Amino acid sequence: MADIRSIDDLDARGKKVLVRVDFNVPTKDGVVTDDTRIQRALPTIQKLIADGGRMILMSHKGRPSGNGFEAEFSNAPAAARLSELLGQEVVLAEDVTGPSAAQVASALGDGQVALLENVRFDGREKKNDPDFARELASLADVYVNDAFGTAHRAHASTKGVADLLPAYAGYLMQKEVGTLTGMLDDPKRPFIAVLGGSKVSDKIKVIDALLDKVDGLIIGGAMCFTFLMAEGKATGASLVEPDWTDRARAMMEKAKANGVKLHLPVDVVAAKAMEEDAEAFFVSVDEIPEDLMGLDIGPETADIYADAIKKAACVFWNGPMGVFEMEPFSHGTRKVAEAIAANAEADTIIGGGDSVAAVNQFGLADEMTFISTGGGASMELVQGEELPGVAALMTDVEGR
Ligand code: 3PG
Repeated sequence: MADIRSIDDLDARGKKVLVRVDFNVPTKDGVVTDDTRIQRALPTIQKLIADGGRMILMSHKGRPSGNGFEAEFSNAPAAARLSELLGQEVVLAEDVTGPSAAQVASALGDGQVALLENVRFDGREKKNDPDFARELASLADVYVNDAFGTAHRAHASTKGVADLLPAYAGYLMQKEVGTLTGMLDDPKRPFIAVLGGSKVSDKIKVIDALLDKVDGLIIGGAMCFTFLMAEGKATGASLVEPDWTDRARAMMEKAKANGVKLHLPVDVVAAKAMEEDAEAFFVSVDEIPEDLMGLDIGPETADIYADAIKKAACVFWNGPMGVFEMEPFSHGTRKVAEAIAANAEADTIIGGGDSVAAVNQFGLADEMTFISTGGGASMELVQGEELPGVAALMTDVEGR
């Protein structure tokens, strides 16, 4: 079976190493406001520094137009933060593959670090343009990908370059792929997945895939209303996808056929509007009034969910239970997060996106076994899809 090629097998001394990181981090007024993704790339960068490599880091930030520099998407804040964390200078090239990049790359000494400007400033990045990949590859001798968060994108910096240079996986990439595939292939049991979010249409593939793996599936977030509608319940003014009730029903049948315990809310917190100061009502799912929308799971449901989580040996969580950013509708998500955090015996794996924000908001990040840095990437992996950025690092890739 193909293995991912590790930087432990790379002798980086004196080599120019092109390292794809995911520094797509939030910033405000030119300052990084959440440096988690930078912190998580440090073990790889520090190992390569210690080995005497000459690092040319590259990352995207946001979704710029692809027509050149745009200040709000600059990698400058990430360079500044990385420099602080490493305690050494991180030179920022003013372009991606232009004269500045070439000059910065050639000036590097052993153990020094540079960061290119946002790779998406060049519109060829997202097209995986072969010329652009060649220009990137020409900056270095070897390639390392530590950007799990972008591994589901077949872009020049994640896929094209990997086909042109000897390619290795960084520690974060290895940890992410190892943890998530380990969870899917050989979880401790009972294995429970907790899924939230607003739309069934966004999560249907994940639900479908997990129903082949888990012992229990907990559903929260607005997508529960499509399931409740599929059961024939009145959902009031809640967000529903009527076109997806058949698929929801099929998932309920699949759960039954696979012996998976499917948990749906028995009560919800509802209000007339999704507003912080809206009056909140606790209502049974059998009696949601026409003018109220469900915005969180109710207290009875939260207790049932917490109890199921308590009994699990492996928990995978993706998606909040309600509008957790607003205090009146945050309690279900908090209760679930606390139950996962309290289950110290279990493997607790948080699958990126809003659940990570929730875990951070409640100050519970340190209690979790693993928090993925990839939202879309972790979902695609769980769905069983091949991640182009990972596939490109496999040892049996032709010619390497
Ligand atoms: C993310 O934040 O999910 C990754 O950095 C990927 O970003 P993208 O969805 O813009 O490709």
